[in-house]
Amino acid sequence: LLFPVILAGGKGERFWPLSRRDRPKQFLSLDGSSRSLLQATADRLLKLAGGWDSLWVITSSQIAEGVRQQLPNLPSLNLLIESEGRDTAAAVAWTSLEIKQRYGEDAVIGFFPADHWIADQQAFADTLSAATQLATTTEAIVTLGIKPTFPSTGYGYIEQGEKIGSFNELPAYHVNRFTEKPNREIAETFLSTGRFSWNSGMFVFRAGVVLKELHTHAPEIIEPLQQYGSNVYPQLPKKSIDYALMEKTSLAYVLPVDFGWDDLGDWNAIERLLKKEETPNVELATHIGLDTEGAIIYASNPEDVVVTIGLDDVVIVRDRNVTLVVKKERTQEIKQILKILQSDS
Ligand code: GDD
Ligand code: MG
Repeated sequence: LLFPVILAGGKGERFWPLSRRDRPKQFLSLDGSSRSLLQATADRLLKLAGGWDSLWVITSSQIAEGVRQQLPNLPSLNLLIESEGRDTAAAVAWTSLEIKQRYGEDAVIGFFPADHWIADQQAFADTLSAATQLATTTEAIVTLGIKPTFPSTGYGYIEQGEKIGSFNELPAYHVNRFTEKPNREIAETFLSTGRFSWNSGMFVFRAGVVLKELHTHAPEIIEPLQQYGSNVYPQLPKKSIDYALMEKTSLAYVLPVDFGWDDLGDWNAIERLLKKEETPNVELATHIGLDTEGAIIYASNPEDVVVTIGLDDVVIVRDRNVTLVVKKERTQEIKQILKILQSDS
């Protein structure tokens, strides 16, 4: 049995202007389906949880109402609301304390980002049952490793060590080293060895195991939470679980996975999902193009018409009062624009 927790507090800024403060990325459907990323994540996890009573969501107060609307069947006791986001280490610590209190320290917990795309639902379920077996029978912090395809600097890297056995017919390995978001040079070295996978951002462990590890490696987060409860939230350090725990623990294991995964990090992910060989552009809008290739074009209003002439490899997004035009390779910099916009207003 697994208690899945959806980490739904992120902003998804790189999808601005489609993602906004009141409508972050996880509330959007980016592949043209009728379910948002958050809803699709819940659909997938419900099967593992065996029902709504075992599914949890942790999010920030600004978007909690939106989460309730999107997941009306989620029991209100299973929705943890952060007064302000303190990144994922605090989110994992608080949820693990709550689940331990309700179900005891042997409860197996899985943390899942709210904004991932997964192709093969059956393979996903099989992998998670392997992860659950591994976490039940071993003192393990289980990670799921994705076969890397390029030296990304936006992911964590997992170095595979000794094989420790098979779970649900999938091999599991000890993790020799975990490195969060290395620079390009280091990422290239990692890739060339063939021993590294990308961290998928999903984690499985028993409540007691992760709490013990947090006490050892991140006492500045777990101790105040345990002593004073979630009232201390605004004072907690802002740190991701990857830096706070994964780079430090020696209990990490990895299951290499193969279910078709994308973390939908920015507009280029839409191209990876939706690009068809026979069409020059990805069009989620009425688009008339002359000499335009490799463009990603989106308009929220189906009546809007986007016209381009002689533009290659650009992203064009029209939403409400904003039009964004950016070169594909520079979509990461949308975050910087948002900083400027915020300090202006
Ligand atoms: N509740 C809550 N509170 N959720 C949060 C917060 C917070 O303060 N901050 C982020 N999240 C949620 C996001 O919504 C997302 O679903 C998940 O936690 C991961 O956060 P990201 O900010 O997207 O992390 P990342 O993409 O930079 O890196 C992580 O994911 C990569 C794979 O996509 C790391 O785990 C990397 O190692 C990994 O490779
Ligand atoms: Mg992410």
